This record gives sequence, structure tokens and C-alpha cells, in this order.
Amino acid sequence: MKITVVGAGNVGASCAESMVRMNLAEEIVLLDIKKGFAEGKAMDMNQCATLHGFDGKVTGVTSDYAATAGSSVIVITSGIPRKPGMTREELIGTNAGIVKSVVKSALEYSPEAVFVVISNPMDTMTYLAAKESGLPVNRIIGMGGILDSSRFKYYLSQAMSCPPSDLQAVVIGGHGDTTMIPLTRLASYQSSPVSEHMSASDLEAVKASTMVGGATLTGLIGTSAWYAPGAAGAALTASIVRDQKKIFPCCVYLDGEYGQKDICLGVPVVIGANGWEHIVDYQLDDQEQAAFNASADKVRAMNAVLADF
Ligand code: 2OP
Repeated sequence: MKITVVGAGNVGASCAESMVRMNLAEEIVLLDIKKGFAEGKAMDMNQCATLHGFDGKVTGVTSDYAATAGSSVIVITSGIPRKPGMTREELIGTNAGIVKSVVKSALEYSPEAVFVVISNPMDTMTYLAAKESGLPVNRIIGMGGILDSSRFKYYLSQAMSCPPSDLQAVVIGGHGDTTMIPLTRLASYQSSPVSEHMSASDLEAVKASTMVGGATLTGLIGTSAWYAPGAAGAALTASIVRDQKKIFPCCVYLDGEYGQKDICLGVPVVIGANGWEHIVDYQLDDQEQAAFNASADKVRAMNAVLADF
């Protein structure tokens, strides 16, 4: 089993490191365009093998797509990250060209792969990958909702002083500060609604913090976050390569589901060996559906910008 991570920046390297520690594959190929960069990061990770107790290896390469041949999953993290004050949307011009060329090159060597897109603006980059690759849509998955849901659980756990692992909470819609939808109605604390454990205003504050979770970190660190984005990419990949059939909120091509067509947007899906296998219907109420439609409108406007690149 081989998995490729394209882009050895913070998110890509963190994702590859999570994967090797999880023993997800015999080989994880880490590819970057900067000479020696992926090689160095891979060597550093491999020198952790006896410390963390893993048997797989990370192979670092510079733009050598032949080394990625036969990968089961290609994770795309390439592109420029956000700087403080920037939205994910502002990256579109630069990252569209990068993602397009990565999809083309990777597909040549791994025609059977499932593609996981993390590059921002993720919803639009996933749509671009779906259109450019011509692959069956179930093999194109955008990773944003898993990360946002993890942040949602983090903020809930802070507000409720409880372990995040006791919480179930999902973010659907776009992976943008104004497009994501933390589903507060469905969030639960060991099967009881979180609304029974905090005030409505505290729950609204948690929702607001979740939506700007990435921007908060960018402001603190000076660039995009990487530990949780990398770990979320690895969790998604694990469900693919281990055929775990986990339900994760992921950005997938909608053809009428959740009332939307010809767009990639975050909805709960079952993830297995073939990519996303089916979409789970959460039966949104009117308010949630209106928020989902508004999110779709914003993402669709961003997708329209692709025509310029
Ligand atoms: C984030 O939200 C990298 O988009 C990613 O941190």
C-alpha cells in the first residue's frame, strides 16, 4: 500500500507524519517542488521510527511523480497558505493553477487513486479537481468538515469542561469563515443535546468561535494551522485505506442531495475503500437548510471565478 501527500509544507508534513505514526501504509510518498525539502522532512520523520514505534517509511521526492505511481490515495495540500487577515478565498488565483497541475500529474501515475483535497479555498479546489480529473465523483473528497467538526468539539469541550471525546458534533457546508455551518441542534454530549448543558448564548459563542477557528490560529501563529488539518487528513485517509466506512462531514459533489447541484460542499458521507460511498441525510430543518443554501451560493460564486484561471 502506498499513499502520496503532495506538498511538504506544514499541513502536508503533519499529515504524512500522522499517517506514518498510524501505520496507514508501507510507504508514504511526500512530494514537494522545493528541492530537497520533502527529502529532508521525510528523513526527519523516518528517524522517529524507533521512538514512536512505526514500521512504514516516508519517501521524500522533488517533483518526481513517477515515485508516486500506484498510490491508493493522493492527498493534495499544495498551494500557498493564509497570512493573518486573509480569507481562504483570496488564495484562489494562485492555488487553482497549482491544484490543476498536481491532479493531472498524479492521475497519470495513479489512475485508480482516491483524491483528498486540502488546499484552500478547499470547496472550490475540490470542485476544480472533480472537473479537471474527470474521475467518478466518489473518488474526489475535500477535507474541511472533519477539521471544523474537531474544532467545534474542542470549543464545546472548553465551554462544558468535558472531554472532547464525549461529544458528537458536526460542521457541514463550506470550509470558510462565513460558509461553514456548525450544527448546534444535533450536537450531543453522550447522547444528550448540548443545549441542555449550556445557555443559548454560550452555544452561539461556541458556534462563532468554530467558524473563525482557522482565522484565530492564523492570527496567533502568523500562518495557517497544521496539526489538526494534518491529523484530519490522516483520519480521512485511514477510513479509505482501511475501508472503515466512517461517517465524516466531507466536501463532495452534490447532484441534488441537500437541495444542491453541480457544486462540492460539506455533507456527512460514508467513507470507505472507494472514496465516499453515500451521502447521509441529516434532515435539516428550515433554518439549517437556508444556511446551507446561503453557503452554497457563496461557494458557487467563488467557483465562477475559476473561469478566469
Ligand atoms: C484551516 O482551517 C488549513 O484551512 C485550514 O486551518
